[in-house]
Amino acid sequence: MKSLTLTDFLSSPQTDTFIESAQPFFKLMMQYQCAMLEIQTKFQVLNTEMSLDRDHKSIESITCRLKQPKSIIDKLKRRNIEINLKNIETELHDVAGIRVICSFPDDIYKLAEKICSQDDVTLIEKKDYISSPKPNDYRSLHLILEIPVFFANETKRIKVEVQLRTIAMDFWASIEHKVRYKKENIVPQYILDDLRQCADRIYEMDLHMQKISHQIEQYNLDKKI
Ligand code: GTP
Ligand code: MG
Repeated sequence: MKSLTLTDFLSSPQTDTFIESAQPFFKLMMQYQCAMLEIQTKFQVLNTEMSLDRDHKSIESITCRLKQPKSIIDKLKRRNIEINLKNIETELHDVAGIRVICSFPDDIYKLAEKICSQDDVTLIEKKDYISSPKPNDYRSLHLILEIPVFFANETKRIKVEVQLRTIAMDFWASIEHKVRYKKENIVPQYILDDLRQCADRIYEMDLHMQKISHQIEQYNLDKKI
């Protein structure tokens, strides 16, 4: 059988039906995108305000990502959950994801405390992989937040997954992720052990750099007196 080319597909009468049937999904993704924007703005506001009375910025960078349709479907399938829009909203908490990269570990906790105490933010789940790292010594603070988003004709509560980590923790996680998801998928134990050791040394360095930053702030304060 001849396979359908893109031109065939786009000119076929089924295309309109397909696009129409996908509209509710696109609408849901647009809503997640908006929720992500709201949370991103909240972090930017906190960062701008908190950097007024400190020598450093709490946030180095923020990245946002929407889960790909295929990953959404794969995750529901893996969990034996029926694939429909309602289940995407109720069963998945990470369709919208924000990664907040901070300078120091203290900044992570300060930002998390400030965002969770805002009136319109509900904390659904908190996983502190900094105080309790994963077995591979992965460190980050994960929050699932829910916020109301005001659209033209409705207000909807939407969940966003937030991962807060330092620059050093992020560097480690990106390398570790590449190693873990290698195509061959067999990583020798000595490499995994080495990676784990690096995670610990990186965290020690984070704490050391934080101490130095505090000392510099104190030194500058003392000089002013
Ligand atoms: P999923 O949401 O299905 O992944 O399961 P979960 O809720 O148990 O996961 P968790 O909240 O612990 O982690 C979710 C996300 O954190 C992952 O998709 C990764 O982005 C990141 N993450 C968690 N553990 C690791 C890890 O060991 N290494 C790296 N590099 N990233 C991790
Ligand atoms: Mg998760």
